Amino acid sequence: MRKVDLKKLLDNLSLEEKIGQLLQVCGYYYEIEGVVTGPQNSAGFNEREIASAGSVLGIAGAERLKKIQKNYMEKHPHQIPLLFMADVINGYKTIFPIPLAQGCSFNPELVKKCAEISAMESAAAGLHLTFSPMVDLVRDPRWGRVMESTGEDTYVNCVFAKATVEGYQGTDGLNKKGRIAACVKHFAGYGAPMAGRDYNTVELSERTLREQYLPPYQAAIEAGCSTVMTSFNTLDRVPSSANKKLMRGILRDEMGFEGMVISDWAAIEELINHGVAQNRSDAARLAIEAGVDIDMMTTCYCRNLKELIENKVVDEALLDDAVMRVLQLKNDLGLFENPFKDADEKDEKTLILCDEHRAFARKLAAETMVLLKNEGILPIPKKGKKIAFIGPHTSRRWICGVWSIFGEEKDVISLEQAVRNKKIENVTFSTGCPILKDTDALELAEKDCTAIAEDNANKQVLLDEAILQAKNADVVVLSLGEHPAQSGEASSRVEPALDAQQIELFNKIYEANPNVVVVLFNGRPLVLGEIFEKAKAVLEAWLPGTEGGNAVADILFGDENPSGKLTMSFPRHIGQIPIYYNDFKTGRPYTGNKGKYFSKYIDCPNSPLLPFGYGLSYTSFEISDVMLDRDSMTCKESIFASVRVKNVGKTAGKEVIQCYIRDEVGSVARPVRELKGFHKVELQPGEEKEIVFEITEEMLRFYTIDMEYKSEPGKFTVWIGSSSQTQNGREFILI
Ligand code: BGC
Repeated sequence: MRKVDLKKLLDNLSLEEKIGQLLQVCGYYYEIEGVVTGPQNSAGFNEREIASAGSVLGIAGAERLKKIQKNYMEKHPHQIPLLFMADVINGYKTIFPIPLAQGCSFNPELVKKCAEISAMESAAAGLHLTFSPMVDLVRDPRWGRVMESTGEDTYVNCVFAKATVEGYQGTDGLNKKGRIAACVKHFAGYGAPMAGRDYNTVELSERTLREQYLPPYQAAIEAGCSTVMTSFNTLDRVPSSANKKLMRGILRDEMGFEGMVISDWAAIEELINHGVAQNRSDAARLAIEAGVDIDMMTTCYCRNLKELIENKVVDEALLDDAVMRVLQLKNDLGLFENPFKDADEKDEKTLILCDEHRAFARKLAAETMVLLKNEGILPIPKKGKKIAFIGPHTSRRWICGVWSIFGEEKDVISLEQAVRNKKIENVTFSTGCPILKDTDALELAEKDCTAIAEDNANKQVLLDEAILQAKNADVVVLSLGEHPAQSGEASSRVEPALDAQQIELFNKIYEANPNVVVVLFNGRPLVLGEIFEKAKAVLEAWLPGTEGGNAVADILFGDENPSGKLTMSFPRHIGQIPIYYNDFKTGRPYTGNKGKYFSKYIDCPNSPLLPFGYGLSYTSFEISDVMLDRDSMTCKESIFASVRVKNVGKTAGKEVIQCYIRDEVGSVARPVRELKGFHKVELQPGEEKEIVFEITEEMLRFYTIDMEYKSEPGKFTVWIGSSSQTQNGREFILI
């Protein structure tokens, strides 16, 4: 047991030792004797640098990490423990649905518990920090990383940012058992790359940045998030890792963040590629001045800061501040008292993938799925129907998303396995067409995917078998989607749609038997085209994780009633992207008017195929007109807006009641509507409840013409309903 005086410790460190605390390297360096050379050490670290690094990323396992920590501590002159960090994005070994799906649950309590379980499993495996949550607002499904966000809405992202941070960290101290530190990312604006191409330039007005993109990071900070990661992109032409105004001015001074800032992978060195630094030394100077504490995986800090400080180019006080924040985090996690924290092989055995975690993963996965269409074909009766399960995702286990880096395929329940577990009779299973081959997920390029698929000699055999099964069935469940490697980092797509061979499969199967239920496994909204028109039902299952197959089967056979709602719009056409519900007012709005000169397309409606907030259930709900307890308020008052919701169907179900507000006239153009609150309510058949939203002046604030964050008096409309297209509204006045 060791209590440390951090200030004293800092004062005792040499310049090199301090700089070492700011270096983060990959875990594999510690498991190999001697220096790693070749492509694995493309960053070019030498043995001394690796030995001096203060934190490690990307490896886990209690035995492994305890050994590394022990060896390290024995050699470290001041016995400063290493920090172990990793990307635990949607679960450690028990893999939950991808974050985009989690948002669709509209259930922050469940998402908080998911983060708690992820933290417990990770902590037992020796990890101290996860690079999560990603709270980047996303409006462009071409960008592969939309799968890591909770979607296109600021309010939803704030709610889930808070839930996730509280889930990982708890609220009673990071040193408590089962807690890990959270790292909110990527600060800032990374979710808006031009043309949806990863790492591309971001052009956002300051107003949009502040009003729509920054609040979720703020919500994470207010929830106590201990760490922030910089983003790869530029904002107003300045890369975040060199952006002093952003990282010190906005993040620290305005948003009040006091914790540690880490660069994204190699982002400091990439300042050279951005063309804002001449060389690594220049990059190191820019980043430390901007307020980046840890340099992830480059030699910029460890090889240049010493000289920069000795030559008085960089003030040593900047280094001391950064090192202090790293030491503080280590101390908050209790690592000076116990450098192994919760790493424990026995706990790993009892906790990881335990029945309770699996059961919860199944429940959460079912709650994240969105029923997009149902012409009465779902749920399928468990008896009396011949069902053909067809499609490349039917028997596949890898339905987890690329960030499930510690998850293992063998632990995942496929749809086929789930149907067999339910002992459904008269079922057949076939692949129909090959899915893109499993290669190194993160390196799979779209071009190669197509080639692999076309090369497959079995194609006709697979198709013939599937057609035969479809002909002999009453119902076909066709599982289509994306290879998990088609979404995630560096997986932007110009055509967020099903590939040609899956469309061909759908058409051939539909010809053989039109009773087709499509189940989609994918990491982004897709342009569904004819498939959506023709299918009798469409269930969006996303990439649902370890218990994904069970959750899909629960919904297909009516053991669960779907209750997810989309948190990203599904476009009708690629040309509509970016498309999002809280668009701004224009001078020539199109509302079905006759004439040409309106803000519209001449070859496609403006509206998405499926809007934000949309999702069906096996039951139906009636929502009453909006009632207001008063129709005007002053800044100090509030209005209570309410509806009565009734389950008028025959099945118990959950509905997400959503409250939207529009500011009718502002000093700048305002969004057509904005989500301000939601309640997920569970109702038995015939049951009715009142749902109340309190409208406060604070909810009506925005960045005015003078860039002041405040409300302006005037007329507002509030809508309460079951999607962003609800017309159930009433007006009120802010005096
Ligand atoms: C990603 C981050 C991630 C980091 C560490 C980067 O490439 O952008 O989101 O946390 O790698 O794995």
